[in-house]
Amino acid sequence: MNYKVVTYSESETIELAENIESEKFPNMVICLEGDLGSGKTVFTKGFAQAMEITEEVTSPTFNIIKEYTTGELPLYHMDVYRLDGKVDDLPIEEYYTKKGVTIIEWSDTIADYLPDKRLDIKIKNSDDDENKRTIIITPHGKKYEDLCEAVL
Ligand SMILES: Nc1ncnc2c1ncn2[C@@H]1O[C@H](COP(=O)(O)OP(=O)(O)OP(=O)(O)O)[C@@H](O)[C@H]1O
Ligand SMILES: [Mg+2]
Repeated sequence: MNYKVVTYSESETIELAENIESEKFPNMVICLEGDLGSGKTVFTKGFAQAMEITEEVTSPTFNIIKEYTTGELPLYHMDVYRLDGKVDDLPIEEYYTKKGVTIIEWSDTIADYLPDKRLDIKIKNSDDDENKRTIIITPHGKKYEDLCEAVL
């Protein structure tokens, strides 16, 4: 089952993130796919704000993994673009069971290292409207299916 949401502004994508955040749970994993500038970090910032994280969430492109611990749950934000698929000895999988929420940008580049149960979010740009995004959400596992049913 896929869910499709179309947003026409940054704030609508943030609203989607807030809705999903409202059903968050420990060890939740969200996998973000989409072109450069499609809104993966915008989504993550919206999610973090809703978690009441007070630190500024910035793109972790150079650090790969950033941990934010001032919110209701820890947030682990990863941008794995620069790994070019080579996870090597980075402890990515350890984060899935640390009782926080893990959000991974460019998750499709590390497909073999993702958990079976997760929420996939694919963001597509539009050719004719620079602010339009088509967002396809695919839950894997009962908890994620229930979450989608509750908020989408
Ligand atoms: N509907 C929309 N949803 C989200 N962002 C939008 C939308 N319309 C326009 N934007 C703009 O698109 C840009 C998205 O940037 P963002 O850094 O979130 O992309 P990204 O997917 O994280 O890119 P990267 O692959 O470089 O990490 C922002 O400048 C944002 O204002
Ligand atoms: Mg980004």
